[in-house]
Amino acid sequence: MTQALPPKPPARPARVSLWRYVKLFRQDILSAQPARLYRAWMAEFRTPFFRSFLVNQPELVKVLLKERPDDFPKSGRIAEGLKPLLGNSVFLTNGEAWKRQRRIIDPAFEGGRLKDTYPAMRAAAEAAVERLKERQGLVEIEEETSHAAADVIFRTLFSIPIEHQVAGQVFSRFRDYQRSQPLLNLAAFVPLPRWMPRLFRRGTRRNAEAIRALIAQLTRERMDAIKEGTAPDDLATKIMTTRDPETGSTFDTAEMVDQVAIFFLAGHETSASALAWALYLMALYPDWQEKVAAEAEALADESFAAVSKLKVSRDVFRETLRLYPPVPMMVREAACPEQFRNRDVPKGAQMVLSPWHLHRHERLWENPDGFDPSRWQTENGKQCQRDAFIPFSAGARVCTGAGFAMVEGPLILSMILRAFRVVPAAEQAPVPVAHLTVRSKNGIWLQLARR
Ligand code: HEM
Repeated sequence: MTQALPPKPPARPARVSLWRYVKLFRQDILSAQPARLYRAWMAEFRTPFFRSFLVNQPELVKVLLKERPDDFPKSGRIAEGLKPLLGNSVFLTNGEAWKRQRRIIDPAFEGGRLKDTYPAMRAAAEAAVERLKERQGLVEIEEETSHAAADVIFRTLFSIPIEHQVAGQVFSRFRDYQRSQPLLNLAAFVPLPRWMPRLFRRGTRRNAEAIRALIAQLTRERMDAIKEGTAPDDLATKIMTTRDPETGSTFDTAEMVDQVAIFFLAGHETSASALAWALYLMALYPDWQEKVAAEAEALADESFAAVSKLKVSRDVFRETLRLYPPVPMMVREAACPEQFRNRDVPKGAQMVLSPWHLHRHERLWENPDGFDPSRWQTENGKQCQRDAFIPFSAGARVCTGAGFAMVEGPLILSMILRAFRVVPAAEQAPVPVAHLTVRSKNGIWLQLARR
């Protein structure tokens, strides 16, 4: 018997008018794209306002991300949607400012530090299981994984749980921010002409200001604790006390607020999305679910060493990141004119990298739309992992939290499946749509039963 494929959004018809495209785009960037992008090496979008190129060939992706990242800086258009919230955070800056920020931030996420961060992560995973024990039955799992991933960030960054009054407020304000920010993807991928007014809904700005004020409070308190010598040894303290090896400077409070905002946004939305899809896939493929649950017995050992035993869980999580990459597309800008695949790419062209399409590319992957965690042990899987798998991006601008997320995801997945059996709940399968991250249109509903 062939197994059902995991949900994939329908592609749009091959030809549509510009306005229809923009309309589709506002609803969801995934279903706004034509099916040919799953086979193309490169595609051009030419409209009266802009020229964009989607780059889908492994060699070209490598040029943009790994070989010449300075010639393809982050597109300034992305910043338009996120600036009210993120200010000058490492996610948005380019050039020297960005390099300095990475020099200060990266040491906090180095492999060795993960072991120190682990107890806080594990505590958040245990708290998530306890919360689910109270819910049981029919559960909208994205809501739960968001809660869990936000808890991980607050515990690892500031040594406070999500129940902390300020943490809780940041979390709920972020949810409102996301709902009030529908133009984000539109502005990023389909650059609007300069003369067009940027529409932020009133609520968007207000929410961004409120979130930043709350984060500033946490950051100021931490700065005081560092000065008094009473600060806990967590990620915030590590980042705020690390000196730039080149200039000797540290982040001041204002700079730190920008970074905390992006850690929270990049670190919780993404992990929450991946975890929710992973749990849904486990409900769809119970054989794999049982394998993860059996392996999860290793977590009786509470030390960091147990993580290395979660091999199936890691393969399942990786396969989830392939099928539902939380960041479905990234945008860069050509700093100088280029020739790619015999086409002229003008200076200023928007270069779109699409993990969503690359991860399901029909000319690269065997069984591209199928769910098969064992693929990572095959020749094709290994080759594609090197050439066509970029859920965390790649090169100098690779996600700072990649190692962190690859511990957190499999850990929480295993902890939940060790305690519960999950079954798809609703008649309707979830439909992937891309807002800030790849989410399901009407949530992901699961039945949870205690093991
Ligand atoms: C499954 C989880 C995650 C996924 C799939 C993910 C994915 C990504 C991707 C694709 C980028 C590059 C975006 C671009 O270049 O446009 C990125 C950047 C970033 N991520 Fe993650 N991320 C995850 C978790 C985290 C976590 C847990 C943290 C921190 C605690 C984090 C912090 C960051 C930061 C600071 C950047 C900006 C790096 C830079 O531009 O130099 N991420 N992430």
